[in-house]
Amino acid sequence: MSLPKINPTKTAAWKKLEKHFQEIKVQQMQDVFLKDSDRADRFKIEWQDFYLDYSKNRITDKTLSFLLELAEEVKLKEAISQQFSGEKINETENREVLHTALRDFENWKPEVKATLQKMKHFSEEIINGSHKGFTGKAITDVVNIGIGGSHLGPEMVTEALQFYKNHLKIHFIANIDGDAVAETLNKLNPETTLFIVVSKSFTTQETIANVSLVKDWFLTSGTKKDIQKHFVAVSVNEEGAKEFGISEDNIFPMQDWVGGRFSLWGSVGLSICCAIGFSNFEAMLKGAFEMDNHFKKEDFSNNLPVLLALLSVWYNNFFKAETEAVVAYSQYLNKLAPYLQQAVMESNGKSIDRNGETVNYQTGTIVWGSVGTNAQHAFFQLLHQGTKLIPTDFIGFSESLHGNIENHNILMANFFAQTEVLWEGTHTKNAENPFEIFDGNKPTNSILIKKLTPKNLGSLLAIYEHKLFVQGIVWNIFSFDQWGVELGKTVAKETLQAIENSNFSVIENASTKNLLSKFSNSNH
Ligand code: F6P
Repeated sequence: MSLPKINPTKTAAWKKLEKHFQEIKVQQMQDVFLKDSDRADRFKIEWQDFYLDYSKNRITDKTLSFLLELAEEVKLKEAISQQFSGEKINETENREVLHTALRDFENWKPEVKATLQKMKHFSEEIINGSHKGFTGKAITDVVNIGIGGSHLGPEMVTEALQFYKNHLKIHFIANIDGDAVAETLNKLNPETTLFIVVSKSFTTQETIANVSLVKDWFLTSGTKKDIQKHFVAVSVNEEGAKEFGISEDNIFPMQDWVGGRFSLWGSVGLSICCAIGFSNFEAMLKGAFEMDNHFKKEDFSNNLPVLLALLSVWYNNFFKAETEAVVAYSQYLNKLAPYLQQAVMESNGKSIDRNGETVNYQTGTIVWGSVGTNAQHAFFQLLHQGTKLIPTDFIGFSESLHGNIENHNILMANFFAQTEVLWEGTHTKNAENPFEIFDGNKPTNSILIKKLTPKNLGSLLAIYEHKLFVQGIVWNIFSFDQWGVELGKTVAKETLQAIENSNFSVIENASTKNLLSKFSNSNH
């Protein structure tokens, strides 16, 4: 059965929301808390270690009920069960979408279980030093070579969970930029380095070129035979990995029913396992699994990903907000924004609906962000007094991991103060100087989590995965393909050929032709 194909703008709920929006858009809503003493208690969700306060949003009970009606009308419930039961909801690639099966503690698929066992065994040998390099020394450095989904998730998680890290140093080679590769190699000793080549397709230009460069570097000290001790691969394409010289034993399989940007939960997470150990990795899977159950079973009105998705639709499609921000009050989550950018924007950056028609409404949100309090000293001015409406998720933790309570209190005081000021502005303060007036009425979600543990991080990431799924269903688009990045890949290959052959006559665009001439003149 295929996903429902319902144009959201044709639903009764959408019409109600349009009409309702006319009332809400003119309202300064700061005083809703005074008028409605129950609001902060009503507009919240408590789940395990998570507390979501969404009361500082430009919504009323009516808004919520219309948004929930919209979810019903686009048949969200059916779509969720289609995803989890493994129907081929990635219709344009004829694939199932089952990253949730990588963390399904109740019903492991045998191939998933076998891969997890292999990851456990291998990462333990790397960590305890029993796996030796070609001169008999233990591994000290692990390098993940991969890009996009084969990079962003592992890098974000290893940084986020560095508190739980062991002695191994973890590096990432992603960009094709040869200077960046050289800088990383400069830090490494081939005798004690493990390279994990991660590529679902094993055809990605950047990854293949980088691995060749790294292999040449390795072969200046080791022999071809030694490659087995220092290179492993994670891929669907086992043949491609073997052709490259990686032995079958050193290949960690992936399945084509896991999209690259949702893949950190399986073999793509091997560098995470090496960094924090298998039991922490498993705890992260557990957190995601429990969020999957919440998403599947909880009533939509109390469902974290569903609520966050519907609020985002409200701003994206009715207020016409151009972007939304995510600001985590934790330096550990410094790489969360780039990770979410791929997850959200590669998934929902689509303009053809599930009927193959061009949409006439907004889809994919632009996600950006940073960490607090750094961001306050960078772009918050625009959030407070700029002309754009930027709904923002604030994420913070009740406990500091190192117990630096004084700093943590300052950090979190800033979190709470910012959401309050964004909402309240200066309306109670009688500011006279126009430059000191803050309009307020700026929406935020506050996601307060007890502590940054592997389990809670797993749940947090699963919230955002499910949020983008819900939005794709509402917008009637296919969230799990990425045809939009393919054309650029093809043209880059043709352009490279033109550069290598110094033959620019094949390039049609006059601007590109001039750029190539300029480039090759200064290149030689
Ligand atoms: O950028 C497009 C993309 O296909 C992503 O979806 C994917 O995560 C990335 O390239 C890397 O692909 P692979 O893992 O096949 O090398």
